[in-house]
Amino acid sequence: MRDLPTNYIELHPTVRYMLEKEPPLYIGGKFVPAQDGKTFASIDPSTEQVIAQVAEGSTVDVDLAVKVARKAFEGDWREKLTASERSKLIWRLADLIEERAEILAQLDSLDTGKPYQTTLTVDVPLSAEHFRYYAGFPTKIEGATIPVSTPNTFNYTLREPLGVCGLIVPWNYPLLMASWKIAPALAAGNCIILKPAEQTPLSAIYLAQLFEEAGFPPGVFNVVNGFGHTVGTSLVAHHSVNKIGFTGSAETARIIVRSSADSLKRVSLELGGKSPNIVFADADLDVASVGATWAIFGNNGQSCTAGARLYIERPVFDKVVQGMVDEVSNIKVGPGMNNEQPNLGPVISDEQMNRVMGYVGDGLQNGGETVVGGKRMTDTGYFIEPTIFVNTDDSMKINREEIFGPVVSAMPFDDVNDVLRRANDTNYGLAAGLWTTNLDKAHRFASKLQAGTIWINTWGDTDAASPFGGYKQSGYGREMGKEAIDLYTDVKSVWIKHRD
Ligand code: NAI
Ligand code: MG
Repeated sequence: MRDLPTNYIELHPTVRYMLEKEPPLYIGGKFVPAQDGKTFASIDPSTEQVIAQVAEGSTVDVDLAVKVARKAFEGDWREKLTASERSKLIWRLADLIEERAEILAQLDSLDTGKPYQTTLTVDVPLSAEHFRYYAGFPTKIEGATIPVSTPNTFNYTLREPLGVCGLIVPWNYPLLMASWKIAPALAAGNCIILKPAEQTPLSAIYLAQLFEEAGFPPGVFNVVNGFGHTVGTSLVAHHSVNKIGFTGSAETARIIVRSSADSLKRVSLELGGKSPNIVFADADLDVASVGATWAIFGNNGQSCTAGARLYIERPVFDKVVQGMVDEVSNIKVGPGMNNEQPNLGPVISDEQMNRVMGYVGDGLQNGGETVVGGKRMTDTGYFIEPTIFVNTDDSMKINREEIFGPVVSAMPFDDVNDVLRRANDTNYGLAAGLWTTNLDKAHRFASKLQAGTIWINTWGDTDAASPFGGYKQSGYGREMGKEAIDLYTDVKSVWIKHRD
């Protein structure tokens, strides 16, 4: 580990220890190096410096993890522990996440560059709440008795876990995205191999430490860090992995679906979006301007639900855009671990920075204008100015493809039906939102917008209890809520004949 900048908040001793020790893999209840001894670098996107060398898994590590997970699934996890005991373990894990919030928040802040205050007050508590919500499920996953019309026959269903689940997660909310998948998979009685994103390997390893302390049997939860084309593809291809839960790009999702075809394993997908956000003239414009600003710039636009296409009713267009420019002028961008507490950090990597700047260049070349932002901020560190485009149209690349960075297009509209058509004119359908004080419009748009989540006079709310997922090419399956239990269980129908 190189020395971190002196203006960083003081590292927790455990974090310091972890960074110095080459964070290992976690397989079968043991912290182990990769079998071939390889490591890869985790980079601080604020400084471009290596923060840790991390064990880099490969196919052989995945094979071992699958073997121990299968053993745990067929043994201790399902056979030896009662549903109530499994509940208690999951609840205990939630308590430990909360207790060690500082450590987890520092690890995610170092890896992603996002503000420590955000990981501490948002990512980590939401993760703990996720485990708490699902902790109640083991004793409540029920089958049904079915009134079949076959004479002298009793029919009932059992809802059973799938087995070994490979959970492949992205870098934008490392701990939280992992929690969204791990908690329901565990509650349903599955065993898990987590593959964190290669940009953000750290918090998953500390989460493994908490599984250990909570007292989970070995093999129930495993972490294999590494790359998509090695660890990810091995999990997807493995015939003893029953299910892949994936969050990430549509491009990678297509590869996963194709390569899952051999084993026909279950796949659920939470993908990106190009979410429309509509401001009507009757909205509370101050609230809407601030809301539309954070709908895109929250997490630096690196959210699958980012409100990237902003439609503003023409008479209030200038006022709302000005309100957003004012709000942007209050945003402090800086390293997430900086003790001056920035509001936003850098984007995740040079690759992502180049992608985002490529889109900005494309927007400018095709006649778009920026009213604020549009530039890289520093020579070192992947900092990009929050950027608002005007004078763009729906057909431009920047308004059709997911940018996944701090870039929004503000576009005026004149007609209610036309804006509805424009909002839905996308392959994606993860989220959509509107700002209005008119109840009729609110309900009409909630019904007509094609997206898995609709936000009205708000943006970005999620809760473990409420289902989340995509329409159209934003994925399939619903995470969170009781719906997520469906993603991690199969239904068995049992028939019993009795005498007259
Ligand atoms: P990605 O979809 O390639 O990566 C997500 C996860 O999938 C990572 O853990 C990665 O290692 C793994 N992966 C990559 N290739 C794989 C393969 N062939 N088989 C199995 N697993 C594989 O996303 P990436 O490359 O990090 O970002 C590219 C773009 O994807 C972003 O610019 C953004 O538009 C989108 N994205 C969307 C996210 C969302 O939350 N919907 C999250 C991350 C990225
Ligand atoms: Mg990729």
